[in-house]
Amino acid sequence: MNDLGRLEDLPADYVQDLRNLNLVPLWPSLRAVLPPGKPRPNTQPTFWSYQALRPLLMRAGELTPIEKAERRVLVLANPGHGLDNMKASAAMYLGMQLLMPGEWAPSHRHTPNAVRMVVEGEGAYTTVDGEKCPMSRGDLILTPTGLWHEHGHDGSEPVVWLDVLDLPMVYYMEASYHINGQRQTVKPGQGDRAYARGGIVPTPVFTRSAQAYPMLRYPWAETRRALESLAADQPALEAVQVTYVNPETGADAQNILGFYALMLKPGQTLRLPARSPASVFHLIEGGVDVTIDASAFTLAEADTCCAPGYTPVTLRNRLTDKPSFVFIADETPLHKKLGVFEMRE
Ligand SMILES: [Fe+2]
Repeated sequence: MNDLGRLEDLPADYVQDLRNLNLVPLWPSLRAVLPPGKPRPNTQPTFWSYQALRPLLMRAGELTPIEKAERRVLVLANPGHGLDNMKASAAMYLGMQLLMPGEWAPSHRHTPNAVRMVVEGEGAYTTVDGEKCPMSRGDLILTPTGLWHEHGHDGSEPVVWLDVLDLPMVYYMEASYHINGQRQTVKPGQGDRAYARGGIVPTPVFTRSAQAYPMLRYPWAETRRALESLAADQPALEAVQVTYVNPETGADAQNILGFYALMLKPGQTLRLPARSPASVFHLIEGGVDVTIDASAFTLAEADTCCAPGYTPVTLRNRLTDKPSFVFIADETPLHKKLGVFEMRE
């Protein structure tokens, strides 16, 4: 491939004349914006230890009252994007949020979509669109774009959850904003019961729901059971994986990011092919070695790591007597909608 002309090769007065007219020559930057063969991601393989961050999150609980934080969060930032830009990848934001007993994170809604993956503690709830969703370890709760949500805590121990948002994408589009609201009126639903059985959906007088987000809570107990049933039903299946979907349409649960749960059988090594979207891995149960290019991380329970796109990932269950369970978030729905999704062998 031939080298292209550099900016320094051009007369300084010519470059200045261009700039005065808000013009820029393309050829000095062409290879950077269209690199050969594959992108050059800013997203770096990055690991966040829960054991290491937990004391700092608890200290935030002492240092900053909820009224001064609104959402008490430590952001899991990828150094490749610059820590202050608060991105795990180009489209994903990750945060560990702490709610102390008796605290309340007031009602608001915003354009970015969020999900909560509960990490520890009992007794907290997220009220989404009036449905008071209980929060237990491993539960996935959606707070999709535009829906009112607030968090409360009736238990006696701190509650922590992992927030996954498409904030970097929505912010990049200059479409990110929030609106504060009144405390919501609570309806009977708790986010999951209407869709609690696979293969069956509510149809009052033969009518399907047209709600964009009919199911708001995906209890871990059900997801875990689904994975175990899948493994028992199809013993030859290598990747025992499920996707969190909209039960009315079968499409991904949210528009921009995808969410999945994976069961690694005792001692299993699973090689995931290189795919265009970046991925996040969070360990719900067990112990897993993750290899991303030249980086290797060992995930203990509640640890999280991030892999750039176009990169193969290998997961190995360190336990030889029990399965391990991994929650995965990625940018697949976005890549597919934009027509840039790729899988490479
Ligand atoms: Fe929010």
